[in-house]
Amino acid sequence: MPTRRSVLAVPGSNPRMIEKAKGLPADEIFLDLEDAVAPAAKAAARGNIVAALNSPGWGDQIRVVRVNDWTTPWTYADVIAVVEGAGAHLDAILLPKVVDAGQVRALDLLLTQLEKACELEVGSIGIEPQLENALGLRNIDEIATASPRVQTLVFGPADFMASINMRTLVVGEQPEGYDTGDAYHHILMTILLTARAHGLQAIDGPYLQIRDLDAFRRAAARTAALGFDGKWVLHPTQIEAANEIFSPRQADYDRAEEILDAYAYHTSADGGARGAVMLGEEMIDEASAKMAHVIAEKGRAAGMVRTTRFVPPSAAEN
Ligand code: GLV
Ligand code: MG
Repeated sequence: MPTRRSVLAVPGSNPRMIEKAKGLPADEIFLDLEDAVAPAAKAAARGNIVAALNSPGWGDQIRVVRVNDWTTPWTYADVIAVVEGAGAHLDAILLPKVVDAGQVRALDLLLTQLEKACELEVGSIGIEPQLENALGLRNIDEIATASPRVQTLVFGPADFMASINMRTLVVGEQPEGYDTGDAYHHILMTILLTARAHGLQAIDGPYLQIRDLDAFRRAAARTAALGFDGKWVLHPTQIEAANEIFSPRQADYDRAEEILDAYAYHTSADGGARGAVMLGEEMIDEASAKMAHVIAEKGRAAGMVRTTRFVPPSAAEN
């Protein structure tokens, strides 16, 4: 799956911002029809989005549109407009405020019909369910498996905090008065575990204090450390930070590739067919190779180049 270290939110009502976004190095750009667009501007925003998706100048970003949720009057028309208008240039639909599998299936059915009608490959448009309320989190397993189109599970912290009455107005920061642990830990781990259980990407939501890049970096580093694949960004300055934070560090990437090479060598007949061996000061085995594989895969997907080489002991002696 392509990387989604940085997921840039762009209001569909703002053609100037969409035009600028096309040249930015975010892994994914989503054009918003939902909460960043006022109700009176929704219809015009659909047209802006279709025109933008069909226009030249995009890089290789994943292109996504966030439609309105199924409780509104707008979802079906959002999906029809963007797929009929620009389905060939659309990688996925981001479906906000998902509460159950039925909502994902409804979107899946609509997409299938549209893909057939527009002569697109059936299944080519993915779905990114966004978890934004208590019911969605309780039903996350059925949501994750509701359609083979599901690619990611996305956290929506602002709506989520409102949904559970968490007492804070600063999205991404801890509620004042809760001075023990991380108030988001359960939600984040539920999303992460479900994503990993079903081979999906786990994406953290926005950090709204966009002028405070250090605070963004701290918030992103926390979910990157847990194992999340990426985070929303709301401003160009956050993109590079997210790309860096959700890529392995160079030393870790080098070490991961070295562990994989060493493990492959030592478990081979030439290397003595051993399952647990010393690599430098550390003993490595099958589990170490699995951990290394995760980091190596992330590094490769991010286009990293290794700066060290594993030399088998026999070659080193010669
Ligand atoms: C994003 O949609 C959020 O609710 O945080
Ligand atoms: Mg939201």
